[in-house]
Amino acid sequence: MGKFWISALAVIAIAGCKAPSNDIGSSASKAAPVTAATILKADNSGWRSYGRTYNEQRFSPLGSVNTGNVDQLGLAWSFDLNSSRGIEATPIIHDGVMYVTSTFNVVYAINARTGEQIWSYEPEIDMVQASNACCDLVNRGVAIWGENVYTATIDGRLIALDAKSGNVVWEKLTIDKSKPYTITGAPRVIKGKVIIGNGGAELGVRGYISAYDAKTGDMDWRFYTVPGNPADGFENETMAMAAKTWTGEYWAAGGGGTAWDAMAYDPELDLLYFGVGNGSPWNQSIRSPEGGDNLFLSSMVAVRPDTGEYVWHYQTTPGETWDYTATQHLILAELEIDGEPRKVIMQAPKNGFFYVIDRETGEFISAKNFVDVNWATHIDPETGRPVEVEGARYSGKTPYLQLPGPLGAHNWHPMSYSPETGLVYIPAQEAPWVYGDKQNYTQKDRMWNTGTDFGYAVIPSDKAIFRAMKAAAKGRLLAWDPVKQEAAWAHEHLAPWNGGVLSTGGNLVFQGTGDAHFAAYNAKTGDQLWKFFSQSGIVAAPVTYELDGEQYVAVASGYGGSFVLGYGGVLPSGSDFNSGRVMVFKLGADGELPAQPAETVPEFELPEKVETTPELLALGANVYANRCSMCHGDQAFASGLTPNLRYSPVTKDPAMWQEVVGDGILAENGMPKFGHAFDAQTIEAIRAHVTHEAHSDLDKQFYDEVSLPKQ
Ligand code: HEC
Repeated sequence: MGKFWISALAVIAIAGCKAPSNDIGSSASKAAPVTAATILKADNSGWRSYGRTYNEQRFSPLGSVNTGNVDQLGLAWSFDLNSSRGIEATPIIHDGVMYVTSTFNVVYAINARTGEQIWSYEPEIDMVQASNACCDLVNRGVAIWGENVYTATIDGRLIALDAKSGNVVWEKLTIDKSKPYTITGAPRVIKGKVIIGNGGAELGVRGYISAYDAKTGDMDWRFYTVPGNPADGFENETMAMAAKTWTGEYWAAGGGGTAWDAMAYDPELDLLYFGVGNGSPWNQSIRSPEGGDNLFLSSMVAVRPDTGEYVWHYQTTPGETWDYTATQHLILAELEIDGEPRKVIMQAPKNGFFYVIDRETGEFISAKNFVDVNWATHIDPETGRPVEVEGARYSGKTPYLQLPGPLGAHNWHPMSYSPETGLVYIPAQEAPWVYGDKQNYTQKDRMWNTGTDFGYAVIPSDKAIFRAMKAAAKGRLLAWDPVKQEAAWAHEHLAPWNGGVLSTGGNLVFQGTGDAHFAAYNAKTGDQLWKFFSQSGIVAAPVTYELDGEQYVAVASGYGGSFVLGYGGVLPSGSDFNSGRVMVFKLGADGELPAQPAETVPEFELPEKVETTPELLALGANVYANRCSMCHGDQAFASGLTPNLRYSPVTKDPAMWQEVVGDGILAENGMPKFGHAFDAQTIEAIRAHVTHEAHSDLDKQFYDEVSLPKQ
């Protein structure tokens, strides 16, 4: 007893945090070390890997909370993550402690019963590197192994922390900081190796995934996902093989193929699976001018976890040119197909088709579109390749209004597979986009380099067109039968970009929404059985765990990510109050979230329209669409995650505008510098465009009218 308190107090003294009110970790003073057996056994008291177990099903057998009593679910506790950005973290729970990440990669250890903080760790992010993040300053959570917690930071580091104290055990830089790499994904630990990839393919990098020794942090292997410059020699035969599918100086812009999210592991087959992202630049006619499949872009890849040795791949979108990543969630399951039990891997990547693949061999089993698509008619069952629609390859042609767009029919938001219902629950969406060729393309350092002209995709300043576009943007919770390749049921949400999914043995499916609700559905029928107003929108995935016989359901709120940065201003969600929080629910609880601060509506004074030539105005609009809108919003209407340039005092001051945009005086706050790429006249032209947008018909009053109802 005495020993426990001494060590617990030491922890508190080191971390400088308030004391937990009751003991953490049941009775022992030392947490049981996490091993492969711990993760595989997956006892219900925890959630010990990103997708719960190595098969990433995100299904928990817990059923104390079930269709019969879920209406009695209430808030047990909530924990403030001190964030106003997107929160994408899956909480990891072990020995009564929850580990969760917040903005700027702050890690919190929290008492999973009470919500009291045990320690926190701040990695002090290099914001200049972080400003390369395409899709908000987000992170999907930690991994645990042995006595450590592993976190991967937006500026490219992998850090091992002592699970008891939060003290740093080791730290490694996993990227070349001269390139615009970032990390948002959660590491996985397999056979004592911490596996992590990275992002950056919008800006121009070469993708890879690496394995680090969990104890020492030494790198064990690295697998590149696309070939490098042949003049430097290929790293292995696999790269020489992949290089045959590329043309031209494909290495010049990195090639892309970042492995920024999905992984799964089959211990029997001893295969590690991961998903590979889009090409860099997106536009294949620039990246690999004579075509080719461009391996391993948009592929699922299987490697040996001990060595990183290539075993098989399946490419979802050969010669990808639409940002159709295959980094989306990978789920392993046993399905009965044509009377035969098959070990499969399943994915619903951005391209809108649901794939069932043999995970021993990579053999194609079946695929079917799970939303409306207009870029391919179907996947040819003989070849496993999409049959493309004429016109969808936009290079040198008329721009093409396409479904899905780069936000995908399904993005990073985790899905879930219930072995009890046999259904996969997909956070699906429809968000159309206009793809068009970028004329006179040049690669620019550390900014968006897609080779597609985003100017075509700007929502026109016309109220009728805007309303039609808004109606076309949809989000739904889709229950998909992977054997029949058809929908079992669907629940329509008010807008795209909703939360990840959890299914349970209580015949329930849980999901949060961008319009700030957390809800439970009957897993078989899709009936909504319970709903909670979460104040802030939810994009993260829920988890569940049982302690002292009580089942808890946890989810983090915090609305953000690429959709919100780009469209959160013009398609406001049901709640614009954004406060990242972990919310934990149990039966019979009746806790309340802290009261929302009164909404203060600042007096905005619009800037005066800058008079300039039509040519310069058009130039400003085009540069804004291609290099600024992804952070400051379509039509210069920001969601609140970044400053609203329509109302910013900087927009009214041409000298200050040059200092911020050209000289990069806010670079350490995450606002990139553009002076190396654009001259002062172009930078002033962007300002002129923003001042004209500020006076367009589509103003704040209009968006308030069309915004989703609150609560
Ligand atoms: C990677 C995301 C990102 C991109 C791309 C980006 N910005 Fe920013 N910008 C930010 C952030 C974050 C801030 C807030 C920095 C701070 O807190 O000081 C900001 C701040 C600004 C400000 C200062 C506003 C104020 O009120 O303080 C201006 C002006 C600005 N950006 C203009 C632009 C322009 C013009 C472009 C395109 C050429 C652009 N930004 C591209 C993220 C971005």
